[in-house]
Amino acid sequence: MTDTSKIILDVDTGTDDAMAIILAMRALKDRLLAITVTHGNQPLHNTLENTLRVVEFMGGGVPVYGGMPGPMVQDLMPGRHGNQRHQKYVQIIDGEEVCVHAPYLPLPPTSLKPQSQHAVSFLVDALRNTPEPITIVSVGPLSNLGMALRMAPDIAKNIKRLILMGGGDRDVNLTSAAELNFFKDPEAAQIVVHAPCPIVIFPLDATTSIVFREHDAEQIMALDNPCARFYADLLLHFIERLRLLGIAYKDDPNDFSMAMHDALCILYLLDPTLVTDLRRRNVDVDFGGSLCDGRMVVESRVYVPLEGDVQVAYQLDKEKAMSLLLRILA
Ligand code: BDR
Ligand code: CA
Repeated sequence: MTDTSKIILDVDTGTDDAMAIILAMRALKDRLLAITVTHGNQPLHNTLENTLRVVEFMGGGVPVYGGMPGPMVQDLMPGRHGNQRHQKYVQIIDGEEVCVHAPYLPLPPTSLKPQSQHAVSFLVDALRNTPEPITIVSVGPLSNLGMALRMAPDIAKNIKRLILMGGGDRDVNLTSAAELNFFKDPEAAQIVVHAPCPIVIFPLDATTSIVFREHDAEQIMALDNPCARFYADLLLHFIERLRLLGIAYKDDPNDFSMAMHDALCILYLLDPTLVTDLRRRNVDVDFGGSLCDGRMVVESRVYVPLEGDVQVAYQLDKEKAMSLLLRILA
């Protein structure tokens, strides 16, 4: 049966978050109930402005709620991040600070305003008062959702499905042990992966199993409409930044290609066969504050009983992703 549930998208916009918003607004239309925003790729001030810029570019009509400006409790421990090996997401190049996600997206400053309600209380209200369970797609640090589940654990029963981008079983990015979204709020991530509702996790293992290169951008550009051109530009700029910062794809030091992490969660909503390897697992997130802070821990011992309803994606189908992307952006 086709899933027609309403969707709330939780973002920290961000290049690939912007791509997710574009795809969601184009393909999900009225199913997209709201967008909630948190800190992550940039401070909340920027991620909120960026989200509103994209929503305005796409024609508006989707309410945007600003949320948590930082992690739930992680910052309370001074020196918590003293001993990890960090990815150089921000570097000084020719006297200028270059971050993998630019502070602002290349769109005009927005005239749209966020809703006055806080994203966390919106999530609690929306989930408590909905007549039908809602699908949540979360593609940033899990601070908003973690906080909402802490405030009102009963909301989990009205989450139809929680699709989240974060963590990595074998793959990592921000530190030698952790992925960015989980690392930026490990306690929230641990709360969320234990929520009593169906959960599908897109860790780096899945989102970097297919990557997009200049020739893919050319195909998108050839659709020749403003939305496709902007999407292709985002892809090209991101590849350029990875090259500038020397962040190569997996083991090839000369391969600078983009993993469209967040956007892939939207594609999955539209076509679940995009995932070719999905495994039911027990998942935890380390919040111990040391070398493995924010690390996703996936139970691999088959004889350990499964507890929740958590599925982890490992492999995606590039051809399917690309043809779906082209159809949505055409
Ligand atoms: C995740 O971190 C962010 O940089 C991206 O937007 C994505 O959500 C990938 O680790
Ligand atoms: Ca993100």
